[in-house]
Amino acid sequence: MRLPKAGTIEIAPSILSADFAKLADELAVIEKAGAKIVHLDIMDGHFVPNITIGPPVVEKLRKHSKLFFDCHLMITDPRKFAPIFIKAGANHLTFHIEAEKNPAELIKLLHDMGATAGLCLNPETPVKAIEKVAHLADMILVLTVHPGFGAQQFIPEAAKKIVQVRKIVGPDIRVEVDGGIDPQTAPLVVSYGADTIVAGNAIFSKPDRIAAINAIRRACKK
Ligand code: DX5
Ligand code: ZN
Repeated sequence: MRLPKAGTIEIAPSILSADFAKLADELAVIEKAGAKIVHLDIMDGHFVPNITIGPPVVEKLRKHSKLFFDCHLMITDPRKFAPIFIKAGANHLTFHIEAEKNPAELIKLLHDMGATAGLCLNPETPVKAIEKVAHLADMILVLTVHPGFGAQQFIPEAAKKIVQVRKIVGPDIRVEVDGGIDPQTAPLVVSYGADTIVAGNAIFSKPDRIAAINAIRRACKK
């Protein structure tokens, strides 16, 4: 399982709004819809005011799914826990630039363990914060809500940073966007240069997840 090469639009459903009592079924539906990536939001109750899933859940899900596990670490100590998530079956680890003093070193550690690496920016963090190390990552994640919860309102000002990020990384590194994405906001972020589209509430609040994924996919082509 490798991160799809840049150049295609990929929808990455975030299971934060899924039915946590039926996660294996939710992953199967995502796969049936033709998604290659699932976005897993890992929160520690410290970096963000919420707690979600830990390594044992990732390990169990791994046995049920061939999807690419894109783990978004919203945790204070990514350096300590990233290796544990990789051993549990995560394929890609995104850490927050706000939580790591030596991002180049952490990216190398992730690569040495066979994972791909992502760098994330909170809505208020300027693109300048990742400028020196962005080229070392495999994907840059631009957050368009404040991290911690699903179903929040899209922040247009944060989305504009996608343009700057795309400019500094060029066409070969993926640019992911996360927060408040639905068929209305998706075309805008794609026009800014995003190619990896995370959506939680817009998919899992709908009884027909496959139709919801297809609606976002169609909107991205507009
Ligand atoms: C926010 C998370 C997101 C969240 C997005 O802290 O990083 O991945 O699940 O959810 P929606 O699409 O509902 O805004
Ligand atoms: Zn996320």
